[in-house]
Amino acid sequence: MAAVKLLNVRKTYDGKEFAVKDISLEIKDKEFVVLVGPSGCGKTTLLRMVAGLEEITEGEIIIGDRVINDVPPKSRNIAMVFQNYALYPHMTIYNNMAFGLKLRKLSRKEIENRVNEAADILGLKDLLNRKPKALSGGQKQRVAVGRAIVRNPEVFLFDEPLSNLDAKLRMQMRAEILKLHQKLKITTIYVTHDQTEAMTMGDMIVVINNGKINQYDTPMEIYKNPVNKFVAGFIGSPPMSFILGKLDLSNGNIFISLDKAVKLSISHLHLTDDFDGKQVWLGVRPEDFRLKQPSEKTLNEEIEVTLDLVEPMGNESFFHFQLAQSNCIARVQTSDRLKTGDKIKMYLMKDHLHLFDYTSERKL
Ligand SMILES: Nc1ncnc2c1ncn2[C@@H]1O[C@H](COP(=O)(O)OP(=O)(O)O)[C@@H](O)[C@H]1O
Ligand SMILES: [Mg+2]
Repeated sequence: MAAVKLLNVRKTYDGKEFAVKDISLEIKDKEFVVLVGPSGCGKTTLLRMVAGLEEITEGEIIIGDRVINDVPPKSRNIAMVFQNYALYPHMTIYNNMAFGLKLRKLSRKEIENRVNEAADILGLKDLLNRKPKALSGGQKQRVAVGRAIVRNPEVFLFDEPLSNLDAKLRMQMRAEILKLHQKLKITTIYVTHDQTEAMTMGDMIVVINNGKINQYDTPMEIYKNPVNKFVAGFIGSPPMSFILGKLDLSNGNIFISLDKAVKLSISHLHLTDDFDGKQVWLGVRPEDFRLKQPSEKTLNEEIEVTLDLVEPMGNESFFHFQLAQSNCIARVQTSDRLKTGDKIKMYLMKDHLHLFDYTSERKL
Protein backbone atom coordinates (compact mmCIF):
# COMPACT_ATOMS: atom_id res chain seq x y z
CA MET A 1 0.00 0.00 0.00
CA ALA A 2 1.21 3.47 -0.75
CA ALA A 3 0.53 7.16 -0.99
CA VAL A 4 0.54 8.75 -4.45
CA LYS A 5 1.92 12.20 -5.12
CA LEU A 6 1.71 14.24 -8.31
CA LEU A 7 3.97 17.27 -8.58
CA ASN A 8 3.30 19.88 -11.28
CA VAL A 9 2.33 17.22 -13.78
CA ARG A 10 1.71 18.36 -17.35
CA LYS A 11 0.94 16.47 -20.52
CA THR A 12 0.85 17.49 -24.14
CA TYR A 13 0.15 15.10 -26.99
CA ASP A 14 1.01 17.47 -29.82
CA GLY A 15 3.55 19.86 -28.26
CA LYS A 16 1.04 22.72 -28.39
CA GLU A 17 -2.07 22.13 -26.29
CA PHE A 18 -1.82 20.77 -22.75
CA ALA A 19 -4.38 18.05 -21.96
CA VAL A 20 -3.20 18.14 -18.33
CA LYS A 21 -2.05 21.64 -17.40
CA ASP A 22 -0.37 21.68 -14.01
CA ILE A 23 -1.62 19.15 -11.56
CA SER A 24 -0.29 18.73 -8.04
CA LEU A 25 -2.08 16.31 -5.81
CA GLU A 26 -1.39 14.21 -2.71
CA ILE A 27 -3.35 11.04 -2.19
CA LYS A 28 -2.89 9.45 1.22
CA ASP A 29 -2.20 5.79 1.76
CA LYS A 30 -5.46 3.73 1.82
CA GLU A 31 -7.55 6.67 0.60
CA PHE A 32 -10.28 6.43 -2.06
CA VAL A 33 -9.98 9.52 -4.23
CA VAL A 34 -12.34 10.30 -7.10
CA LEU A 35 -11.23 12.43 -10.06
CA VAL A 36 -14.36 13.92 -11.58
CA GLY A 37 -14.92 16.29 -14.47
CA PRO A 38 -16.59 16.60 -17.86
CA SER A 39 -15.53 14.52 -20.84
CA GLY A 40 -12.20 15.68 -22.28
CA CYS A 41 -10.96 17.40 -19.11
CA GLY A 42 -7.87 15.14 -18.87
CA LYS A 43 -8.92 12.43 -16.38
CA THR A 44 -7.89 9.42 -18.46
CA THR A 45 -4.63 11.10 -19.46
CA LEU A 46 -3.81 11.66 -15.80
CA LEU A 47 -4.63 8.09 -14.82
CA ARG A 48 -2.65 6.65 -17.72
CA MET A 49 0.38 8.67 -16.66
CA VAL A 50 0.12 7.18 -13.17
CA ALA A 51 -0.19 3.72 -14.75
CA GLY A 52 2.78 4.32 -17.02
CA LEU A 53 0.76 3.92 -20.21
CA GLU A 54 1.38 7.52 -21.19
CA GLU A 55 4.59 9.50 -20.97
CA ILE A 56 4.72 12.38 -18.48
CA THR A 57 5.63 15.58 -20.34
CA GLU A 58 6.61 17.51 -17.23
CA GLY A 59 6.51 17.02 -13.47
CA GLU A 60 6.90 14.04 -11.19
CA ILE A 61 4.71 11.18 -10.08
CA ILE A 62 5.66 9.47 -6.84
CA ILE A 63 4.23 6.20 -5.54
CA GLY A 64 5.28 5.42 -1.97
CA ASP A 65 8.73 7.01 -1.85
CA ARG A 66 9.70 6.21 -5.42
CA VAL A 67 9.59 8.63 -8.35
CA ILE A 68 8.05 6.42 -11.02
CA ASN A 69 8.41 8.63 -14.14
CA ASP A 70 10.89 6.21 -15.69
CA VAL A 71 9.64 2.99 -14.09
CA PRO A 72 7.94 0.71 -16.66
CA PRO A 73 4.22 -0.03 -16.06
CA LYS A 74 4.72 -3.63 -14.97
CA SER A 75 7.12 -2.58 -12.21
CA ARG A 76 4.88 0.14 -10.79
CA ASN A 77 2.81 -2.17 -8.63
CA ILE A 78 -0.49 -0.72 -9.76
CA ALA A 79 -3.54 -2.34 -11.29
CA MET A 80 -5.95 -0.58 -13.62
CA VAL A 81 -9.59 -1.36 -14.39
CA PHE A 82 -10.90 0.02 -17.68
CA GLN A 83 -14.40 1.02 -18.79
CA ASN A 84 -14.54 -1.61 -21.56
CA TYR A 85 -13.35 -4.43 -19.23
CA ALA A 86 -10.59 -5.44 -21.70
CA LEU A 87 -11.03 -9.19 -21.05
CA TYR A 88 -9.44 -11.78 -23.35
CA PRO A 89 -12.43 -13.29 -25.19
CA HIS A 90 -10.85 -16.68 -25.91
CA MET A 91 -9.79 -17.33 -22.31
CA THR A 92 -11.89 -18.63 -19.44
CA ILE A 93 -12.61 -16.33 -16.52
CA TYR A 94 -10.05 -18.25 -14.48
CA ASN A 95 -7.38 -17.72 -17.11
CA ASN A 96 -8.33 -14.09 -17.57
CA MET A 97 -7.59 -13.54 -13.90
CA ALA A 98 -4.54 -15.80 -13.85
CA PHE A 99 -2.92 -14.44 -17.02
CA GLY A 100 -0.97 -11.55 -15.52
CA LEU A 101 0.27 -13.75 -12.68
CA LYS A 102 1.52 -16.42 -15.11
CA LEU A 103 3.46 -13.70 -16.96
CA ARG A 104 5.01 -12.75 -13.65
CA LYS A 105 6.00 -16.40 -13.19
CA LEU A 106 4.19 -17.00 -9.92
CA SER A 107 3.87 -20.62 -8.84
CA ARG A 108 0.81 -22.56 -9.92
CA LYS A 109 -0.31 -22.93 -6.32
CA GLU A 110 0.06 -19.20 -5.59
CA ILE A 111 -1.91 -18.32 -8.72
CA GLU A 112 -4.66 -20.73 -7.77
CA ASN A 113 -4.87 -19.28 -4.26
CA ARG A 114 -5.03 -15.71 -5.44
CA VAL A 115 -7.62 -16.33 -8.18
CA ASN A 116 -9.82 -18.37 -5.86
CA GLU A 117 -9.65 -15.75 -3.15
CA ALA A 118 -10.58 -12.96 -5.57
CA ALA A 119 -13.36 -15.09 -7.06
CA ASP A 120 -14.65 -15.65 -3.55
CA ILE A 121 -14.66 -11.96 -2.65
CA LEU A 122 -16.42 -11.03 -5.91
CA GLY A 123 -18.87 -13.92 -6.10
CA LEU A 124 -17.34 -15.35 -9.29
CA LYS A 125 -16.70 -18.90 -8.07
CA ASP A 126 -19.31 -20.54 -10.27
CA LEU A 127 -18.24 -18.64 -13.38
CA LEU A 128 -14.54 -19.50 -13.50
CA ASN A 129 -14.85 -21.96 -16.39
CA ARG A 130 -16.96 -19.70 -18.58
CA LYS A 131 -15.76 -17.46 -21.37
CA PRO A 132 -16.44 -13.69 -21.14
CA LYS A 133 -19.19 -13.81 -23.78
CA ALA A 134 -21.29 -15.96 -21.44
CA LEU A 135 -21.24 -13.23 -18.77
CA SER A 136 -23.45 -10.20 -18.16
CA GLY A 137 -21.96 -6.70 -18.17
CA GLY A 138 -21.87 -6.57 -14.39
CA GLN A 139 -20.15 -9.95 -14.18
CA LYS A 140 -17.55 -8.93 -16.77
CA GLN A 141 -16.80 -5.79 -14.80
CA ARG A 142 -16.40 -7.92 -11.68
CA VAL A 143 -13.88 -10.11 -13.51
CA ALA A 144 -11.97 -7.00 -14.56
CA VAL A 145 -11.86 -5.96 -10.90
CA GLY A 146 -10.83 -9.50 -9.93
CA ARG A 147 -7.98 -9.42 -12.39
CA ALA A 148 -6.78 -6.24 -10.70
CA ILE A 149 -7.13 -7.66 -7.17
CA VAL A 150 -5.07 -10.80 -7.81
CA ARG A 151 -2.06 -8.64 -8.55
CA ASN A 152 -1.99 -7.38 -4.95
CA PRO A 153 -1.29 -3.87 -6.16
CA GLU A 154 -0.20 -0.94 -4.03
CA VAL A 155 -2.59 1.30 -5.95
CA PHE A 156 -5.86 0.65 -7.79
CA LEU A 157 -6.73 2.80 -10.79
CA PHE A 158 -10.30 2.80 -12.11
CA ASP A 159 -11.22 4.59 -15.34
CA GLU A 160 -15.01 5.02 -15.55
CA PRO A 161 -15.53 1.34 -14.70
CA LEU A 162 -19.32 1.54 -14.43
CA SER A 163 -20.19 3.60 -17.52
CA ASN A 164 -21.32 0.60 -19.58
CA LEU A 165 -23.73 -0.69 -16.94
CA ASP A 166 -27.41 0.15 -16.52
CA ALA A 167 -28.45 2.44 -13.67
CA LYS A 168 -29.44 -0.28 -11.21
CA LEU A 169 -26.31 -2.34 -11.74
CA ARG A 170 -24.21 0.80 -11.48
CA MET A 171 -25.59 1.46 -8.04
CA GLN A 172 -24.92 -2.13 -6.99
CA MET A 173 -21.36 -2.14 -8.34
CA ARG A 174 -20.71 1.20 -6.67
CA ALA A 175 -21.50 -0.38 -3.33
CA GLU A 176 -19.43 -3.47 -4.16
CA ILE A 177 -16.35 -1.47 -5.08
CA LEU A 178 -16.67 0.53 -1.85
CA LYS A 179 -17.05 -2.61 0.27
CA LEU A 180 -14.04 -4.05 -1.47
CA HIS A 181 -12.08 -0.95 -0.60
CA GLN A 182 -13.15 -1.16 3.03
CA LYS A 183 -11.91 -4.72 3.07
CA LEU A 184 -8.63 -4.40 1.17
CA LYS A 185 -7.81 -0.77 2.02
CA ILE A 186 -5.77 -0.28 -1.12
CA THR A 187 -5.11 3.30 -2.20
CA THR A 188 -7.54 3.97 -5.05
CA ILE A 189 -7.80 6.60 -7.76
CA TYR A 190 -11.21 6.39 -9.38
CA VAL A 191 -12.06 8.42 -12.48
CA THR A 192 -15.63 9.29 -13.45
CA HIS A 193 -17.65 12.00 -15.19
CA ASP A 194 -20.59 11.16 -12.92
CA GLN A 195 -21.00 13.48 -9.96
CA THR A 196 -23.15 10.93 -8.12
CA GLU A 197 -20.31 8.41 -8.16
CA ALA A 198 -17.95 11.11 -6.95
CA MET A 199 -20.22 12.19 -4.10
CA THR A 200 -21.08 8.70 -2.92
CA MET A 201 -17.72 6.99 -3.31
CA GLY A 202 -14.91 9.42 -2.62
CA ASP A 203 -13.17 10.02 0.70
CA MET A 204 -11.93 12.98 -1.26
CA ILE A 205 -13.02 14.44 -4.61
CA VAL A 206 -10.82 16.19 -7.15
CA VAL A 207 -12.91 18.31 -9.51
CA ILE A 208 -11.05 18.81 -12.77
CA ASN A 209 -11.97 21.14 -15.59
CA ASN A 210 -9.96 21.83 -18.69
CA GLY A 211 -6.81 20.06 -17.45
CA LYS A 212 -6.74 21.85 -14.09
CA ILE A 213 -7.81 21.03 -10.56
CA ASN A 214 -10.61 23.35 -9.52
CA GLN A 215 -11.18 21.93 -6.05
CA TYR A 216 -9.80 19.08 -3.94
CA ASP A 217 -11.79 18.38 -0.81
CA THR A 218 -14.26 16.10 0.92
CA PRO A 219 -17.59 15.54 -0.89
CA MET A 220 -19.55 17.50 1.74
CA GLU A 221 -17.20 20.47 1.68
CA ILE A 222 -17.34 20.61 -2.11
CA TYR A 223 -21.12 20.45 -2.00
CA LYS A 224 -21.44 23.13 0.69
CA ASN A 225 -18.62 25.43 -0.33
CA PRO A 226 -17.89 25.15 -4.04
CA VAL A 227 -15.00 27.46 -4.95
CA ASN A 228 -16.44 28.59 -8.27
CA LYS A 229 -19.49 28.46 -10.51
CA PHE A 230 -18.17 25.48 -12.47
CA VAL A 231 -17.76 23.27 -9.39
CA ALA A 232 -21.08 24.52 -7.99
CA GLY A 233 -22.90 23.56 -11.18
CA PHE A 234 -21.09 20.27 -11.74
CA ILE A 235 -21.53 18.73 -8.29
CA GLY A 236 -25.10 18.20 -7.10
CA SER A 237 -28.16 16.70 -8.73
CA PRO A 238 -30.46 18.29 -9.72
CA PRO A 239 -27.89 21.00 -10.33
CA MET A 240 -27.63 24.36 -8.60
CA SER A 241 -29.69 27.10 -10.29
CA PHE A 242 -27.86 30.26 -11.34
CA ILE A 243 -29.59 33.62 -11.58
CA LEU A 244 -27.99 36.87 -12.65
CA GLY A 245 -28.37 39.63 -10.08
CA LYS A 246 -27.01 42.92 -8.81
CA LEU A 247 -25.61 43.54 -5.34
CA ASP A 248 -27.09 46.23 -3.19
CA LEU A 249 -25.10 46.97 -0.05
CA SER A 250 -26.28 49.38 2.61
CA ASN A 251 -25.52 49.69 6.33
CA GLY A 252 -23.81 46.32 6.47
CA ASN A 253 -26.77 44.55 4.88
CA ILE A 254 -26.39 42.59 1.69
CA PHE A 255 -29.20 42.44 -0.81
CA ILE A 256 -29.31 41.05 -4.30
CA SER A 257 -31.82 42.34 -6.84
CA LEU A 258 -32.77 39.74 -9.40
CA ASP A 259 -35.09 41.88 -11.45
CA LYS A 260 -37.45 44.75 -10.68
CA ALA A 261 -39.67 42.59 -8.54
CA VAL A 262 -37.30 40.44 -6.51
CA LYS A 263 -34.85 41.59 -3.87
CA LEU A 264 -33.30 39.03 -1.56
CA SER A 265 -31.44 39.42 1.69
CA ILE A 266 -28.25 37.49 2.33
CA SER A 267 -27.21 36.97 5.92
CA HIS A 268 -24.02 34.94 6.06
CA LEU A 269 -21.57 36.80 3.82
CA HIS A 270 -19.32 39.75 4.50
CA LEU A 271 -18.58 41.97 1.55
CA THR A 272 -16.79 45.28 1.38
CA ASP A 273 -18.59 48.38 0.06
CA ASP A 274 -16.87 48.25 -3.31
CA PHE A 275 -19.13 45.32 -4.22
CA ASP A 276 -22.11 47.66 -4.20
CA GLY A 277 -23.82 47.63 -7.59
CA LYS A 278 -21.76 44.71 -8.92
CA GLN A 279 -23.24 42.04 -11.11
CA VAL A 280 -23.06 38.56 -9.60
CA TRP A 281 -24.40 35.08 -10.10
CA LEU A 282 -26.75 33.92 -7.39
CA GLY A 283 -26.50 30.15 -6.91
CA VAL A 284 -29.32 28.23 -5.26
CA ARG A 285 -29.28 24.51 -4.44
CA PRO A 286 -32.60 22.77 -5.24
CA GLU A 287 -33.30 22.13 -1.53
CA ASP A 288 -32.83 25.81 -0.67
CA PHE A 289 -35.99 26.80 -2.50
CA ARG A 290 -38.73 26.28 0.10
CA LEU A 291 -42.47 26.20 0.11
CA LYS A 292 -43.99 28.37 2.83
CA GLN A 293 -42.93 27.56 6.37
CA PRO A 294 -44.08 30.59 8.41
CA SER A 295 -42.08 29.75 11.53
CA GLU A 296 -38.73 30.10 9.80
CA LYS A 297 -37.20 33.54 10.28
CA THR A 298 -34.36 32.63 7.98
CA LEU A 299 -36.52 32.75 4.86
CA ASN A 300 -36.66 35.64 2.45
CA GLU A 301 -39.80 37.37 1.24
CA GLU A 302 -42.01 35.24 -0.94
CA ILE A 303 -41.43 34.96 -4.67
CA GLU A 304 -44.23 34.02 -7.01
CA VAL A 305 -43.31 31.63 -9.78
CA THR A 306 -45.16 29.68 -12.45
CA LEU A 307 -44.34 26.00 -12.71
CA ASP A 308 -42.97 25.04 -16.14
CA LEU A 309 -42.69 21.38 -15.22
CA VAL A 310 -43.31 19.13 -12.24
CA GLU A 311 -41.33 15.90 -11.89
CA PRO A 312 -42.81 13.73 -9.14
CA MET A 313 -40.21 11.37 -7.65
CA GLY A 314 -42.45 9.65 -5.12
CA ASN A 315 -41.07 11.00 -1.88
CA GLU A 316 -40.39 14.45 -3.36
CA SER A 317 -40.88 16.49 -6.51
CA PHE A 318 -38.68 18.58 -8.72
CA PHE A 319 -40.27 21.89 -9.70
CA HIS A 320 -38.93 23.66 -12.78
CA PHE A 321 -39.66 27.37 -13.13
CA GLN A 322 -38.18 30.65 -14.30
CA LEU A 323 -36.86 33.25 -11.95
CA ALA A 324 -35.53 36.49 -13.44
CA GLN A 325 -35.28 34.80 -16.86
CA SER A 326 -33.21 31.90 -15.53
CA ASN A 327 -34.22 28.25 -15.39
CA CYS A 328 -34.44 27.05 -11.82
CA ILE A 329 -35.07 23.68 -10.19
CA ALA A 330 -36.42 23.18 -6.69
CA ARG A 331 -36.56 19.94 -4.73
CA VAL A 332 -39.63 20.00 -2.52
CA GLN A 333 -41.69 17.69 -0.40
CA THR A 334 -45.35 18.37 -0.74
CA SER A 335 -48.55 16.40 -0.77
CA ASP A 336 -50.28 19.08 -2.86
CA ARG A 337 -50.91 17.92 -6.38
CA LEU A 338 -49.27 20.81 -8.15
CA LYS A 339 -48.96 20.77 -11.92
CA THR A 340 -47.48 22.60 -14.86
CA GLY A 341 -48.92 26.09 -15.16
CA ASP A 342 -49.74 26.47 -11.44
CA LYS A 343 -48.61 29.65 -9.74
CA ILE A 344 -46.91 29.03 -6.41
CA LYS A 345 -45.02 30.97 -3.77
CA MET A 346 -41.46 29.99 -2.99
CA TYR A 347 -39.01 31.16 -0.37
CA LEU A 348 -35.25 31.30 -0.35
CA MET A 349 -33.10 30.73 2.71
CA LYS A 350 -31.20 33.87 3.69
CA ASP A 351 -28.12 32.01 4.82
CA HIS A 352 -27.79 29.29 2.18
CA LEU A 353 -27.30 31.40 -0.91
CA HIS A 354 -24.13 31.22 -2.98
CA LEU A 355 -22.70 34.22 -4.81
CA PHE A 356 -20.18 34.08 -7.64
CA ASP A 357 -18.32 36.94 -9.27
CA TYR A 358 -19.84 37.64 -12.69
CA THR A 359 -16.51 37.75 -14.54
CA SER A 360 -14.13 35.44 -12.68
CA GLU A 361 -16.97 33.13 -11.57
CA ARG A 362 -15.18 32.67 -8.25
CA LYS A 363 -17.16 32.34 -5.07
CA LEU A 364 -17.60 35.58 -3.12
N1 LIG B 1 -3.74 9.87 -27.64
C1 LIG B 1 -4.12 11.15 -27.74
N2 LIG B 1 -3.63 11.97 -28.71
C2 LIG B 1 -3.99 13.26 -28.79
N3 LIG B 1 -4.85 13.86 -27.96
C3 LIG B 1 -5.38 13.12 -26.97
C4 LIG B 1 -5.06 11.73 -26.80
N4 LIG B 1 -5.73 11.26 -25.74
C5 LIG B 1 -6.46 12.30 -25.25
N5 LIG B 1 -6.25 13.42 -26.00
C6 LIG B 1 -6.85 14.75 -25.74
O1 LIG B 1 -6.54 15.15 -24.43
C7 LIG B 1 -7.65 15.76 -23.80
C8 LIG B 1 -8.00 15.00 -22.53
O2 LIG B 1 -8.48 13.72 -22.88
P1 LIG B 1 -8.81 12.60 -21.80
O3 LIG B 1 -7.69 12.51 -20.83
O4 LIG B 1 -9.16 11.36 -22.54
O5 LIG B 1 -10.09 13.23 -21.08
P2 LIG B 1 -11.21 12.52 -20.18
O6 LIG B 1 -10.75 11.17 -19.79
O7 LIG B 1 -11.37 13.47 -19.02
O8 LIG B 1 -12.45 12.50 -21.01
C9 LIG B 1 -8.77 15.78 -24.83
O9 LIG B 1 -8.77 17.03 -25.43
C10 LIG B 1 -8.37 14.69 -25.80
O10 LIG B 1 -8.85 14.97 -27.08
MG1 LIG C 1 -11.66 9.32 -20.09
